[in-house]
Amino acid sequence: MKHKILFVCLGNICRSPSADGVMKAVVDKEGCAEDFFIDSAGTAAYHSGERADARMRKHALSRSYDLLSIARQVTVSDFYDFDYILAMDDSNYIDLERLAPTNEHKKKLYKMASFAINYQATQVPDPYYGGPDGFELVLDILEDAAEHLLKYIIKNQTA
Ligand code: 4NP
Repeated sequence: MKHKILFVCLGNICRSPSADGVMKAVVDKEGCAEDFFIDSAGTAAYHSGERADARMRKHALSRSYDLLSIARQVTVSDFYDFDYILAMDDSNYIDLERLAPTNEHKKKLYKMASFAINYQATQVPDPYYGGPDGFELVLDILEDAAEHLLKYIIKNQTA
């Protein structure tokens, strides 16, 4: 059985597509890509059907992450389909808690930044209205968090 991971932000055009790209690179590097199904979604539908934000794609590509996502809104069925649902910020987390069909499904929810060790961030900050540094910070936090998220999942599986 594959581990199914869904990354969720607001628009599904900046942070969660990046988390998806970074996580796929991490599992590739560790040689376990076939054990994972990784996707992303947004709590809002404003950008549904769109590719990732051009600025985010440019910053990601400069670190060799080619973001290929097409934005979609998160749905209740995602709580049945995925094992781990990672919110990028507190507001995404609250929206997902509200969407969860049962309390049992809420146990699938995590905050992505809580897996970061080198960055003290509690959230992956929304880069949309800011400058280039914000996009770089998103990638810095995600690279840190993705590596430790993989360790957590592997440890969980053997526990
Ligand atoms: P994301 O960033 O949630 O990381 O995809 C945003 C994208 C779009 C908007 C806000 C944040 N927006 O307001 O349209």
